[in-house]
Amino acid sequence: MADKKITIKDGQSDNEIDLPVLDSILGPDVVDIRSLEKNLGYLSHDPGFIATSSCESKITFIDGNEGKLWYRGYPIEELAKKSNFLETAYLLLNDKLPNKTELQSFSSDISNGYYVDESVKKIIKVFNKDSHPMAIMSACLSYLSAKYHNEINIQDIEYRYKSTINLISGVPIISAWILNFINGKDFTKPNKSLSIAGNFINMAFSNLNDDQKKLSSRAMDVIFLLHADHEQNASTSTVRLSGSSETSPYAAIAAGISTLWGPTHGGANEAVINMLEEIKNSDKDVEYYIDQAKDKENPFRLMGFGHRIYKNYDPRAKIIQEIAHEYLQKLDSSNPNKPLFDIAMELEKYALEDEYFVSRKLYPNVDFYSGIVLKAIGIPQCMYTVIFALARTVGWVAHWNEMIEDKNFRIGRPRQLYTGKDKTSYKDIEER
Ligand code: SDX
Repeated sequence: MADKKITIKDGQSDNEIDLPVLDSILGPDVVDIRSLEKNLGYLSHDPGFIATSSCESKITFIDGNEGKLWYRGYPIEELAKKSNFLETAYLLLNDKLPNKTELQSFSSDISNGYYVDESVKKIIKVFNKDSHPMAIMSACLSYLSAKYHNEINIQDIEYRYKSTINLISGVPIISAWILNFINGKDFTKPNKSLSIAGNFINMAFSNLNDDQKKLSSRAMDVIFLLHADHEQNASTSTVRLSGSSETSPYAAIAAGISTLWGPTHGGANEAVINMLEEIKNSDKDVEYYIDQAKDKENPFRLMGFGHRIYKNYDPRAKIIQEIAHEYLQKLDSSNPNKPLFDIAMELEKYALEDEYFVSRKLYPNVDFYSGIVLKAIGIPQCMYTVIFALARTVGWVAHWNEMIEDKNFRIGRPRQLYTGKDKTSYKDIEER
């Protein structure tokens, strides 16, 4: 079949050029605009990258209209039900589900990687106990970028695999140590016989009994799996752009952590609980807050609602809602999470019926229920985005590897629409 293309004509000069169309397996095909400036003298313009494909990727696909998500072609619902975080990490990294031998080998590489340089504890202790844990985590990753700086060899597959294992197995340990620190507890030791989620729970909550640890570990494993990757979101795009300069992967992940921290991205799970707590403690009802969110003059947003891509229910929110239900059924009604969950369900009901939200296709996203489950497990609110970053480290390193292996790998350098001053000359101060 003739190569697919589109033809565009310049209304000013009547010049017209063909631009190739690249086939996608899922989702819209893309127009390759790389020859646009050379052949027609224009750049494309897309603030916020609403309609721009920044790269070719085979890792994750989202159908925003249908509210569907696939990791390497597998539906997230099936993976959440039948797989686990470790096996899904292998899938995201290797584009296949592992057989027994491959899983065993990957699992021992990861558990043998349950080690983080003791100096990281000194970095953590430099901070005040009320410092935000995402700042502490970013600093720990920056420390590791210094520790491994002399080994950097981006094009070497062994170096990339070692960095991948260090990050996937090390970030959960750093996360648990940060939780130990803000709880005023001693730093706990990793246990190689446990899964990533099990080891995190065991290190973070050594006080829980075995049944509580088992329930929390399974819930945490699903939460990690659901948060592992999500196409070219802001923090993944940060890791790609940062990594494109061939900097240390630890430094690129530190950059991703800083981006994820924002309340409109990964910080939303913490903001959702803050919002639910505010509603629970206020004398205003849910309808008052819905009206606040709809008021253009009011900066208040309904945290946990809306998404750049999902114009339907975020499939991850549905799965986490089920976990929240399971968890809260096991808790008696006096549990402080029950009222929060009831408020969340009331907010959701309002928003799914209100014309403002319906017309803008603002549905609950992954962050809407995850905070409730994390709170039920006993994770402090300030740690929720650390949990998100722990899980998303898998997606970040998968994209970092995919980018470097791409035949088009080069430093990213977006262009701009300049609307500043026209060219002028320097004026001495007497003339100004
Ligand atoms: C994550 O990209 C990813 O994949 C992210 C993520 C991942 O896994 O990596 O899925 C994780 O970040 C989930 C999103 C978490 N953030 C929140 O829950 C914060 C609340 N949501 C909003 O900040 C907002 O919905 C965003 C940031 C998520 C999306 O912003 P967009 O795509 O830029 O949408 P927009 O601001 O253009 O909104 C369109 C309209 C606007 O109204 P109008 O100008 O059309 O009148 O919807 C309104 C917005 O004001 N709107 C909201 C709203 N979100 C959008 N109004 C009230 N409450 C909200 N939450």
